[in-house]
Amino acid sequence: MKVAVFSTKPYEKIYLEKYNADAKHELVFFEASLNAATTDLAKGFEAVCVFVSDILDENTIEKLANQGVKLIDLRSAGFNNVDLTATKKHHIKVLRVPAYSPQAVAEHAVALILTLNRKTHKAYNRVREGNFSVEKLMGFNLYEKTVGIIGTGKIGTAFAKIMLGFGCKIRVNDTVESDDLKAKGVKYLTFDEVLANSDIVSIHCPLTHETKHLFDSLAFEKMKSGAMLINTSRGAIINTSHAIVALKKGKLGYLGIDVYEQEEKIFFKDLSESLIQDDLIERLMSFHNVLITPHLGFFTEEALEQIVKITLKNFTDFENGVSSENEVT
Ligand code: NAI
Repeated sequence: MKVAVFSTKPYEKIYLEKYNADAKHELVFFEASLNAATTDLAKGFEAVCVFVSDILDENTIEKLANQGVKLIDLRSAGFNNVDLTATKKHHIKVLRVPAYSPQAVAEHAVALILTLNRKTHKAYNRVREGNFSVEKLMGFNLYEKTVGIIGTGKIGTAFAKIMLGFGCKIRVNDTVESDDLKAKGVKYLTFDEVLANSDIVSIHCPLTHETKHLFDSLAFEKMKSGAMLINTSRGAIINTSHAIVALKKGKLGYLGIDVYEQEEKIFFKDLSESLIQDDLIERLMSFHNVLITPHLGFFTEEALEQIVKITLKNFTDFENGVSSENEVT
């Protein structure tokens, strides 16, 4: 089928072209992201293929429907950027890649923790400048620390298992409890109890109406003083302005984020020669105890290969009228 692929990056194009050799879909690549201003690019296409930085709000979806688009295929697990009420109203099917490599994201969360804690990024820069001092590089042992996890789905579970390997106590919160994790000594607690008991809290729940700004000033007050917060899930689960206040007060000891509330305007772009207009991220970048990565939790060879294979299968299933477990309803 003929598909307009939005927000295409060179590394994805290589994988999509390689695996499409057998599937033989007609893929037309656009670097532009999809939003209400760029829907004209999708004229003549039955399907659009999008990423987390594309904005599929009601206006965009109405325009796509009027142009004859019948399928939105996400190259991601999260689908918070799609207005599902609008897709239902306009009879557009939404498919996604629900699971490709939970380990990729879980391992990235661990990378954020270790970097923030053991300050390897600072040591690297120091040593390159001939400075071999260890002053101000002291970290803490992970062994026997309490790690809290919000959301024990695929990624949260993979993360819990890695942290168990470090000898951490794992305390979690989710409405659905995993017997597998419980058998390994993981304890399910209320959200407040997880915050109160954890030295490190890692967010692995989806962004929904319920979880938007779940981490606000009230939540930060409930956390241990000096605790570390890690977010590889979705930016808006944290209220960024409140996080900045908590960091300034020293209540929040460390913040590691792979996702950011306003990331669509910043992430996946080279802004090194531009003036960044987002004052909140500029403020975050100024803290020595904040580590920001540009939404690269998913970015491993294994994960990208899986994303592309499942994305192409989604096109084929739609074309053949096959019902798919990857449908977002
Ligand atoms: P999943 O659906 O397997 O697990 C999510 C878990 O969160 C479920 O167990 C669910 O019951 C729980 N949950 C929902 N609302 C909750 C709440 N209010 N409090 C506590 N738990 C709650 O999803 P998966 O695959 O583990 O992914 C989690 C999130 O990670 C995705 O929604 C996505 O936003 C993010 N993600 C980030 C990536 C990155 O590159 N940084 C890549 C892939 C996913």
